[in-house]
Amino acid sequence: MIEITDITKTYTIAGKKVVAVGKASFTVERGEIVSIIGHSGSGKTTLLSLIGGLTKPDSGTVVINGNNIWSMNDDDLSDFRNKTISFIYQFASLVPTLTVFENIMLPATFGVHGEDTAGYARHLCDVVGLSDKMQSYPSQLSGGQQRRVAIARAFVTNPAIVLADEPTGDLDEETEVEMIRFFRKINEEKGTVFIIVTHSTDLAKQTGRHLKMSNGIVTSV
Ligand SMILES: Nc1ncnc2c1ncn2[C@@H]1O[C@H](COP(=O)(O)OP(=O)(O)O)[C@@H](O)[C@H]1O
Ligand SMILES: [Mg+2]
Repeated sequence: MIEITDITKTYTIAGKKVVAVGKASFTVERGEIVSIIGHSGSGKTTLLSLIGGLTKPDSGTVVINGNNIWSMNDDDLSDFRNKTISFIYQFASLVPTLTVFENIMLPATFGVHGEDTAGYARHLCDVVGLSDKMQSYPSQLSGGQQRRVAIARAFVTNPAIVLADEPTGDLDEETEVEMIRFFRKINEEKGTVFIIVTHSTDLAKQTGRHLKMSNGIVTSV
């Protein structure tokens, strides 16, 4: 389903070259949950954004369902991304002027994503334990609650692939367990692929496959 071949991304910082991701190759099949661990600065976030069509690799290919995503033009790529991929970003990413419900609905306002999107958005709000906060604004929520909105938002389009960057980083243990259970349920029901960057050994244990990044190099563990 996802075939990553020799992708490389180099940044130049103050005249010095940093290989954020170096010749990474691996495949992910439909229905897999993959975790990625690694020290800060090892290239995890960069890898997710290369796979998800947000950062263009210097070389190498990312093929998703037979589509070489980095050979698409910008419009086709953003269309493909919107239909297929969702991100749970590492840092806060809610729109401050929209309510919780509107934030969750936002990805579904681009293109068609099934019939009762509003109903599904309300269901997702409930799943993440925020049905009483639907009309609140992000600034009125705790960090953990904002995180749960970002999690709910990632599912409203029924994505085939969820790329999650430390999705449970700012959650308490109990909520983390609930969110992991929810990921697994979606995965079992819909075959959704998850690639999850995490520091949580509990979360990593729940995944079928483990990758490790070290100085831009991906290895299996
Ligand atoms: N936009 C950028 N510009 C310059 N350097 C970057 C950029 N993004 C990441 N890097 C560098 O690439 C390396 C990997 O970063 P990152 O992918 O964020 O690692 P991680 O998510 O594992 O902490 C780091 O050395 C970082 O400083
Ligand atoms: Mg990161």
